[in-house]
Amino acid sequence: MTELAPLSITEIDLGTLAERSGAIAVFATEDGKLDQNARKVNSLSKKAVARLVESAAFEKAKTGEAVTVSYPAGLAAAKVIVVKMPRRPSVEVARKAGAAIAKARGEDDVLVLGGSMARMADVAFGVALRGYAFTPHKTGAQDALGKIEFMVSAPDEVQAAADVLMAVAEGIVFTRDLTNEPANHLTTTEFANRLKEMENIGLTVEVLDEDKLEDLGMGSLLCVGLGSASPSKVVVMQWNGGGDEAPVALVGKGVVFDTGGISLKPAGGMEDMTMDMGGAGVVSGVMRTLALRKARANVVGLVGLVENMPSDRATRPGDVVTSMKGDTIEVINTDAEGRLVLADVLWYAQERFKPSAVVDLATLTGAVIIALGRENAGVFSNDDALSKAFLKAAETEGEGAWRLPLGAAYDAKLKSRIADMKNVGGGRDAGSITAAQFLQRFIKEGTPWMHLDIAGVASVKEDTVLAPKGATGWGVAALNRLISDTYEAE
Ligand code: BES
Ligand code: MN
Ligand code: ZN
Repeated sequence: MTELAPLSITEIDLGTLAERSGAIAVFATEDGKLDQNARKVNSLSKKAVARLVESAAFEKAKTGEAVTVSYPAGLAAAKVIVVKMPRRPSVEVARKAGAAIAKARGEDDVLVLGGSMARMADVAFGVALRGYAFTPHKTGAQDALGKIEFMVSAPDEVQAAADVLMAVAEGIVFTRDLTNEPANHLTTTEFANRLKEMENIGLTVEVLDEDKLEDLGMGSLLCVGLGSASPSKVVVMQWNGGGDEAPVALVGKGVVFDTGGISLKPAGGMEDMTMDMGGAGVVSGVMRTLALRKARANVVGLVGLVENMPSDRATRPGDVVTSMKGDTIEVINTDAEGRLVLADVLWYAQERFKPSAVVDLATLTGAVIIALGRENAGVFSNDDALSKAFLKAAETEGEGAWRLPLGAAYDAKLKSRIADMKNVGGGRDAGSITAAQFLQRFIKEGTPWMHLDIAGVASVKEDTVLAPKGATGWGVAALNRLISDTYEAE
């Protein structure tokens, strides 16, 4: 697993500043004011910082961006990174500033002279996340990242905030690693093994194998994996940090590879379907974060792990399967497999845990990318309070999310001639909504439920503020915040 760069937070000690190697980061306000520490670096570097702050490059830089001086005279450091940031930045700006430091430092150690600037823990969060690289399959890649050191006026305070944020960052990195991992490495078995290992950090983890899933009657989930050599599994991760209240259930689609099955996808871009377990990846990352920060809440994470392959044993278009709920499903298109997996895991989650709310995450439809692009995940819910609380948490964390409608007319598209329902809406209209309607058929009356279609945001082809291209870990921070804001005891 990718490790976060080591972070230390100490008191200010400028005694050995001139001899520091690596990078040194300082802050300047939009109008070019240097704090005390930046002034010290300025005087040691024969006013290089002051000249940089007066330059056109610094003028052009946006708030939260950085400009670098290389090999400054008077310092052993390879570079001084000057970050444009107000003394009291927003969370978003502070994290962006951290990302700018991460990019500017490259592989060097970095000393950040934070002094009494606000939100230094968020800056550290930005440095840690933007420094992520997925390298296990690059031979000769450097595996130890350069150290991150913050010198601040109130180290205890910054450390306490950083402890929580680093638990979130670890969850995000766990999600990114799972989502980036190719399917020949991340088989259903390997995925389950990696989750089982989280017993180390205090989670209770059960792996349900195919025999057990058959006993439970999960004919919908099981029909997806029939063509694969990898056995289907459901993994149940429990964190019991609350009292005896009902848990929140997080449910994830974990299709380790989606060829489409007999309804085979076209070759172009099929390699992207290695991220089709992104929903399960986010659920796993959130559970990791909750355990690491010892959340005072009861949360259960359930993931359905399958591989969608064509073969002589694979499910055919036209086959009818019986779900754990008992409803029968006509499989019109074997590429609409995520909903078949979720139907049974959602039902099992409700039957076993009687949760106070259910949130599912899935890279469910290409249609959500057409609707919302890479900027926002699709949010569907039967509960205004739940979806509003989530949208607020997502906004705070800078994770895009946008609510889309549900309704009886969409549900009616799932009518089947020969079974209780079919697995696609017929035609491409409102494809993300008809998929959500299918899921809602497996939600019990009165259970608050939210479905997040993350097909557009789980993995992206261009760098984002906090992530290099590839898996983003979208949703870990927002769901962690939803839990702390809404479900956690004071
Ligand atoms: N895993 C795909 C959805 C997807 C598409 C995720 C692009 C990420 C990027 C899903 O299983 C799928 O194939 N959906 C079909 C549904 C259709 C057959 C009704 C789709 O979106 O085309
Ligand atoms: Mn599919
Ligand atoms: Zn899929």
